[in-house]
This record gives sequence, C-alpha cells and structure tokens, in this order.
Amino acid sequence: MKRIYLAGLATLGVAICLGQSAAGAIEEPAYPEGYRRWTHVLTGVSDARFKRYEGMHNIYANPKAIEGYKADGAFPDGSVIVFDLFEVVDQEGATVATKRKFIDVMVKDSKRYAATGGWGYTEFLGDSRTDRAFTQDKAMVRCHACHVATPGRDSVITRFKD
Ligand code: HEC
Repeated sequence: MKRIYLAGLATLGVAICLGQSAAGAIEEPAYPEGYRRWTHVLTGVSDARFKRYEGMHNIYANPKAIEGYKADGAFPDGSVIVFDLFEVVDQEGATVATKRKFIDVMVKDSKRYAATGGWGYTEFLGDSRTDRAFTQDKAMVRCHACHVATPGRDSVITRFKD
C-alpha cells in the first residue's frame, strides 16, 4: 500500500514539472542551418547612429518567407528570415565586411508565438550556433516591440525586389 502511494506521488511530481515547463517557457527558434544558400533579400549599411546595428547587414529568406514577401497578406507558418550583420572597414573608399557580429532570426509559427503576432525572435552571437544574446522572454519583447511598431507588413520591415 505504502509503495503504491509513493509511486503515485512520484508520478504526480513528474506531471507537475512537465506541466510547468510546457506552460512557462517560450521555445527558442532553432539556428537557421544553411541560410547562406537562401534567397538574398537585400543588403544595408548603417553607421554609428544605429549603435549595435552599425555595420553591413545581408538579409536572407527561406522559400516560405519569399512567398510571404511576394504576397500581400501575412507570411505563412514556416517562414524564416535572417539578418546577418558584419563589422566593416574602409579600404581606400570601398566598404568591406569583416567579422560577423551576430545574426538575428525571425521564425513564423502562429500557434507557438501567438502572443507576438506569430513571430519568434532570437539572436546568435558571432559565428556561434548556440550562444544567444538574450534570454527568450527578453528577445520576444525587445525585438517584437520595434518590429510591430515600424511600418512594414506582418511585422516584417523590408520588402523584396526581383
Ligand atoms: C530598434 C528597432 C529594432 C529592433 C529592436 C530590432 N529590429 Fe530587426 N529590424 C529593424 C529594422 C529597421 C529592419 C530593416 C533593416 C533594413 O531595412 O535593411 C530590421 C530587420 C530585421 C530582419 C529582416 C526582416 C525584416 O523585418 O525586414 C530580421 C530577421 C530582424 N530584424 C530580426 C530582429 C531580431 C531577432 C531582433 C531582436 C534580437 C530585432 N530584429 C530587433 C529594426 C529593429
């Protein structure tokens, strides 16, 4: 009898732990493997006025996100967009990209990220596939606040030109 009671308590404990992690944590978007082979959306160069975004950035979109860029409505689930930022040097008048500073990633999953318009946000530092600049709850607030407030479509600021 006592053994059954203890086993029951252990099961209950596991159930509570699982329930808490499922309800509490926001799932981190995965590292976007292979994004350098995706479609290039545009390149931009920003000076020191853009603070941590100073440098040269290239933006890439996977095939789903390209559908979103080309359509008038929302981006479909499975869209992934990457903002790839480099430090720059001036070489006799040419602006040349050097070290990667970080990559910013947006992933569309309308159920998982319902609270932020269906977009999950994350930032990987340098060339790392694991080091992230922000805890997930911080990234979601910080990134989305600016994206949702900047004119664009479905929180995506850039436009794609063929
Ligand atoms: C202060 C405002 C601001 C914040 C904060 C911000 N972004 Fe952006 N983001 C921009 C702007 C502006 C662009 C467009 C850049 C361009 O026109 O080349 C952009 C572009 C992007 C893009 C390319 C898709 C698009 O919307 O055009 C991604 C991906 C992205 N940001 C991810 C992130 C992530 C992840 C974070 C948080 C770690 C973040 N951003 C925080 C302003 C912001």
